[in-house]
This record gives sequence, C-alpha cells and structure tokens, in this order.
Amino acid sequence: MTVDLDWENLGFEYSELPFRYISYYKDGQWDQGQLTQDATLHISESSPALHYGQQAFEGLKAYRTKDGTVQLFRPDKNAERLQKTANRLLMPQVPTDKFVEACKTVVKANKDYVPPYGTGATLYLRPLLIGVGEVIGVQPAKEYIFTVFAMPVGNYFKGGLAPTNFVVSRDYDRAAPYGTGAAKVGGNYAASLLPGGQAHDNGFSDVIYLDPATHTKIEEVGSANFFGITKDGEFVTPLSPSILPSITKYSLLQLAEERLGLKPVEGDVPIDELNRFAEAGACGTAAVISPIGGIQDGDNFHIFYSETEVGPVTRQLYDLLTGIQFGDVEAPEGWIVKVD
Ligand code: PLP
Ligand code: COI
Repeated sequence: MTVDLDWENLGFEYSELPFRYISYYKDGQWDQGQLTQDATLHISESSPALHYGQQAFEGLKAYRTKDGTVQLFRPDKNAERLQKTANRLLMPQVPTDKFVEACKTVVKANKDYVPPYGTGATLYLRPLLIGVGEVIGVQPAKEYIFTVFAMPVGNYFKGGLAPTNFVVSRDYDRAAPYGTGAAKVGGNYAASLLPGGQAHDNGFSDVIYLDPATHTKIEEVGSANFFGITKDGEFVTPLSPSILPSITKYSLLQLAEERLGLKPVEGDVPIDELNRFAEAGACGTAAVISPIGGIQDGDNFHIFYSETEVGPVTRQLYDLLTGIQFGDVEAPEGWIVKVD
C-alpha cells in the first residue's frame, strides 16, 4: 500500500524516508552493509569529504509500472560511473553488485513511498560515497562510507514538459579543462551554486556552461546534459572531457538512432551556431527530458522550437524514454532491473 501523498505535485525536494543503506570501508575492505533508520551520518570533524571534497554521488530512479511492480533504469551504469569517479578522487570502488543490491534494498524497504504509476512521480535514489576518518593533510581518507537514501520526487525543472529558458554563463565555469567535470563530485556543483542562483534570480531554469578552454562551445547544463535536434534529423550532443557523461544522454543517442531513425552525433556544439537546431533540450535523471524554449547569451536571446510548446521530436524522445522507464515500451536488453 502506498502512503497518501500529493503525488502529482511533488517537486524535487528532500524528504526523510524510514530506511537507508549504509556500508563502511575500513582496513582495505567494505563491510556487508545494512539498512538503518538513522538519517544522520556520524563522522569525524577531520573527514576529507568535509575539507577537501573527497566525495562522490550518483542519482537514479525507481519507477512503478502499470502492473504495480517497481523497476530501476540502468543502475549498473550508475555503478560504473561511481567507480570512475572514485578512481579520479582516489576512493575505493563500490562493486557493481553491491551498488545495485544496495539500491534494490532501499527501494524494497521504502516501497510504500514509490509513487503510483500514472502520477509521473518517481522514487529518486541518491548513492553517496564519502572519505571519512582522521586526516588533516591533503591526502585521501583511509575510511569511507557508502550510503544510499531515497525520496519521492516530481519535476526537477518547473515546466516539466513545457519549455523553459536557460542562460549562458560567461563569468563562471563549472569545471576546468582537465579537472573533475566528468566526475560526479560535489565540487562541480559547489562551483555552480553562484551562477545557478543568479540564473534563477533572473527567471532562468539553469545555466548553460561553455567549454572552459575557449568559451565557444556548449558543454552542458548545471544539472543535465544538452541536446539539439537539427533541421535535417540529427540528434546532437556535445562531446567534451569536462562534462558529466549522462546515462540519459547515452540512452537517448541509442534510442534516437534505433527507434526514431535519427542520426546520433556527439561533437562540437558552437554557441554561435544555434540556428542549426529545430529543437533543444536538457536531459538527465532528475531533468528527464526538459525542452529548452530559449537560450539567453548576453544580449542575444535564441528561441528554438517555441517558448511555450514542446517540439515533436523532443516529445517522441520523451515518450520513448519514459515509456521504457515506466515499463510501457520494450526496453533494449539489460536496461531494466526489476526490484521485486
Ligand atoms: N550533467 C550533470 C552536471 C548532472 O548533474 C547530471 C545528473 O546526473 C547529468 C548531466 C545527467 O546525467 P544522468 O543522465 O546520468 O542522470
Ligand atoms: C541527477 O539527475 O540525478 C542529478 O544528480 C542532478 C542533480 C543536480 C539533481
């Protein structure tokens, strides 16, 4: 039995659910991990996660299908990305099996909070890996915590499938050319708080970051990847070593080609060539597919398909992706992991 919540009107907010998973890494190995009802982490004041940002996170969702079962979308890909992030920050890897089991365990324990099918809401999972223990010099921790907690969520951007506007950041980058942009680490998001806050204050959904070396090409949005649909049927996304490799983006590249017959292209997206695109959007786990109405760059405001209506190809991609995630459309092999 699901709990009684206003599922249709959930935003993207934290809420404390009864159970989360926690596992400790000590003396070179992970313990078995367990569920806990304690929502507070108890860590040393000298933990490297707190001082030197030795931490990483992931984001994935659990979906309730029409027949009431619950499923995850490509959790093995989140596990692999967390492993790559861990390598970049000298943290121990969480094995894929352990990661996926932890996610399933948390969903099962909180199953009454998985939103009902048809509400559009989902259960968002936040896996977190942090370096803890007693260290004060700049060096990696010897002990780590891996935890997974969850909460029901709705739209990340206010519009949902209604387009919203984004603004190019010319004053700030989110990542350095050979920095940690491709890793899912908190520091990238800390760097985006100021430009992101300014964007919100000015009525934009989020920031479009340019490549940090030349500021001529679109990199990504502060919380999602960018894609554009060209007038001649290409699905184009930026290729750069400093953007987060979005699992949603790679799924869309494949679906665009296999199911819609579009040409998938990863390459440069010059900010002064937006006219190529008939439609554009932001994609990610939280963002799902959020159509971009227009992009403000200095005094120039470029409108894509429409400021008020989602374009036809973006709509098709949205229906395909969410159809697969909620179990209504057949998924490519291995994309869906059943929880029960
Ligand atoms: N880019 C950034 C900066 C993000 O925070 C996210 C969210 O995870 C994404 C892209 C989208 O990645 P994914 O599709 O794997 O959620
Ligand atoms: C996600 O989509 O899972 C993210 O981590 C984005 C975050 C900024 C909410």
